[in-house]
Amino acid sequence: MQYRRLGGSGLQLSALSFGAWVTFGSQIGRSTARELVATAWDHGINFFDNAEGYANGEAERVMGDVIADLRLPRDGFCVSSKVMFGSASDPRPTQKGLSRKHVTDACHAALKRLRVECLDLYYCHRPDPETPVAETVWAMDALIRQGKVLYWGTSEWPAALIREAHKVARAHHLHAPTMEQPQYNLLHRERVELEYAPLYAELGLGTTTFSPLASGLLTGKYNEGVPDDARLGREGWLQRIVFGSSDERRLERAQAFTALAAELGAPPATLAIAWCLRNPHVSSVILGASRPEQLLQNLSALEWIDRLGEGDWRRLEAAAE
Ligand SMILES: NC(=O)c1ccc[n+]([C@@H]2O[C@H](COP(=O)([O-])OP(=O)(O)OC[C@H]3O[C@@H](n4cnc5c(N)ncnc54)[C@H](OP(=O)(O)O)[C@@H]3O)[C@@H](O)[C@H]2O)c1
Repeated sequence: MQYRRLGGSGLQLSALSFGAWVTFGSQIGRSTARELVATAWDHGINFFDNAEGYANGEAERVMGDVIADLRLPRDGFCVSSKVMFGSASDPRPTQKGLSRKHVTDACHAALKRLRVECLDLYYCHRPDPETPVAETVWAMDALIRQGKVLYWGTSEWPAALIREAHKVARAHHLHAPTMEQPQYNLLHRERVELEYAPLYAELGLGTTTFSPLASGLLTGKYNEGVPDDARLGREGWLQRIVFGSSDERRLERAQAFTALAAELGAPPATLAIAWCLRNPHVSSVILGASRPEQLLQNLSALEWIDRLGEGDWRRLEAAAE
C-alpha cells in the first residue's frame, strides 16, 4: 500500500480506501461485509468511509460491528461519517441538514453505530442552503474541541463555499475544513482538476475521491446491457445518473476506454483506478466493491501507476473524452 498525507494535515491515509455506499446494510450480508473489511485491512487500507444516510444508518452499524469483530486496533484505522441527509427514512427538519443541532446529533448517533469514541473524518455531505456556513463551522469546531471528531471536511461543495468556511475559521481561530470528498473518474474530471485547482496550495485541501469506476461503468460490465446482479440492475434509480443524457455519451466513452484497456493488456477497472491515483492532489481513492474478488482486482491498481507510459495514459483519457 501507498500512504498519502491528507492535504496539509499530518494524517496519512492509504492511497486506496474502502466505502460502504449501497453495499453495507443493503446489497451484501454481514459475512461478505466482514470479508471485505478484512481483505481491505490485510492489504493496508486504513480508511473506511461511511455516512449517516447509507441504508438509513445500517451501513454504519454493520461496519462498526465487523470492525469490532475483527478487533482492528483503533489507532491503526480511520473511519468517517457524513452528515446532511439524515438517517431517518422521512427525516423531520431537525433530523437533516447542517444546523448545529443536526451536525451534533448525527455525530453522536454515528459514534454509537460505528462503535468508536471519535470520528476520524466527518464530512458535510452536501452544502445546506438553509444553514449559514458560519454555524456549521462553529459546530464542527466544537466537536473537534470535545474530542468527538478529528478532521472535518465537505463533500461536493463549490470552491467558493469551501473558501467561505476557511474565512470564517480564520477570523475566529476555529478548525477549518481539511478535506473535500468529490466524485472523480475518467468520465467526471472538472471539479477536481479545474474548480478546486487553486485550493490545493491556497488552503492545503486534501481530497478523498469517490466513484473511481463511475459505479461500475468503467469496468465494461454494462457495455452489452445491464446484468441483474450488478449495481445498476439492483439500483434501477441510478441508471439515469450513471448513463447520463445522450449528449454526455457516457456509455460510448466507457466502451471506448474499456476497448483500449483490453488492447493495453490490463483490466479496465484496474486502469481506471490507477488513473485516479496518478493525480497528486488525490489523497485517497475510495473504492466500492460488492465482492472480495473485485476489491482484490481494484487493489492491483497500485502496480499499474507507473507501468504505462505517458502516451498510453493520454490515449486512455482521449478514449474516455
Ligand atoms: N460523498 C459522496 O457523496 C459519495 C457518493 C458516492 C460514493 N461515495 C463513497 O465512495 C465509495 C466508492 O464509491 P462507489 O461505490 O460509487 O465506487 P465505484 O468504484 O465507482 O463503484 C463500485 C461498484 O462497482 C462494482 N465493481 C467494483 N469493482 C469492480 C470490478 N473490479 N469489476 C466489476 N465490478 C466492480 C461493484 O458493484 P456491483 O458488483 O454491484 O456491480 C461496486 O460496488 C462509496 O462506497 C462511498 O463510501 C461517496
